[in-house]
Amino acid sequence: MDKLRGRQPRPERAIQRRRFLILAGGAAAYLALRSHRAWARRAARPQPVLQPWTLPDEPPAGALETARSLVAAAVLAPSLWNSQPWRFEVEGSTIRLVADGQRSLPITDPAQRGLMISLGAALENLLVAARAYGLRPNVTYAPHDGPGGLVAEVTWSNGDLRRDRPMFGAIVERRTNRRMYDERGILAPNRAQLIAQVPEGFLLHWIDDRDRIESVADLAHQAIHERVLDRRAEAEQYSWMRFDDDARRRGDGVSVDELELGGPARWMAGRYFNPESWFLRFGAQSAAKQARSAVRSAGALALLVAVRGGEAQWLTGGQAYERFALKATTLGIAHQPINALIESDRYRAEVLRQFAAGGEEPLMLLRLGHSKSPPPAVRRNVALVASFRNS
Ligand SMILES: Cc1cc2nc3c(=O)[nH]c(=O)nc-3n(C[C@H](O)[C@H](O)[C@H](O)COP(=O)(O)O)c2cc1C
Repeated sequence: MDKLRGRQPRPERAIQRRRFLILAGGAAAYLALRSHRAWARRAARPQPVLQPWTLPDEPPAGALETARSLVAAAVLAPSLWNSQPWRFEVEGSTIRLVADGQRSLPITDPAQRGLMISLGAALENLLVAARAYGLRPNVTYAPHDGPGGLVAEVTWSNGDLRRDRPMFGAIVERRTNRRMYDERGILAPNRAQLIAQVPEGFLLHWIDDRDRIESVADLAHQAIHERVLDRRAEAEQYSWMRFDDDARRRGDGVSVDELELGGPARWMAGRYFNPESWFLRFGAQSAAKQARSAVRSAGALALLVAVRGGEAQWLTGGQAYERFALKATTLGIAHQPINALIESDRYRAEVLRQFAAGGEEPLMLLRLGHSKSPPPAVRRNVALVASFRNS
């Protein structure tokens, strides 16, 4: 009797086995079909051709290839939420840099300061590449709100020495590094080289005292917490956050992986940062804590300011930021903007006070330090952002 206990009569076992086989077969077929359907869906969508992070080292032959390479360098510039708010109109040896208003963030960046800084960074990459190819570039700046969004026009002539080559090499290596740093300070000669990138009309204020870094870290905690809970701003920023392979597919925005979120926020990001979700409060806590730790881990903080405020300084301020970022890259120094602190009226004045920079216009607040470099962020390819006409 004991032997039989637990064993079921034969017909029932046979039915269970059949049921198991049917279910397992069904699951296997579903999985096979699902991956096939996902593949078919991907294949059916038009894929934006993404910018590979390589540039020709040698000067390209011919006006068209030169222009294409210059635009390829420009699109590797940093931009607010990787929005890439640019278009390039190429005509012979002229490139017109045009703002793409469709790619602005009107709630986060109502005055379009961040948009103009992004365009300035793209312009600087273009000029660095031109000089590295031995060209002599000339820039004409358009008035703010130029016709059709025109921001600047670059022309060039041939026959110059190849200059700015280390900076050119850094264009493909530069990253916004959101990882934790190791608190090591920045050596004085490196700091001097970074400050030397900033042209007349701008200043780079510097903090490396641990107590003051701590104060800014606390401010970052408050500012980010408040910003995530601001549902309008959060909705806008969430629309630039990319999940699964969306960043790769679209070629823009910031992927959840790049945000380096820790704890549950990493795998719950879709809910934690969704302005409609009840979980948003946890997203705010998590992002605030992360920002505080990130600032604390820095070796120094730098604040780039325009001495005289006003829109005219934003584009050239973006150029200064990009030169700073490229120089930091050549020196092996990691950096990340922490701009939530200066985007908000409430915190801007306090930041200026911390940096003893009253009366100046803050453009970029950066944490600096040492950490392994992350992989490159996606970009839309030259073909998607540039139009070419023969002159
Ligand atoms: C005006 C401006 C503001 C930015 N603010 C932030 C910021 O507050 N936090 C951040 O992590 N990155 C910030 N960034 C960096 C962009 O998110 C980054 O450039 C973009 O995601 C592309 O990545 P990459 O710089 O590694 O190429 C900012 C960039 C610009 C130009």
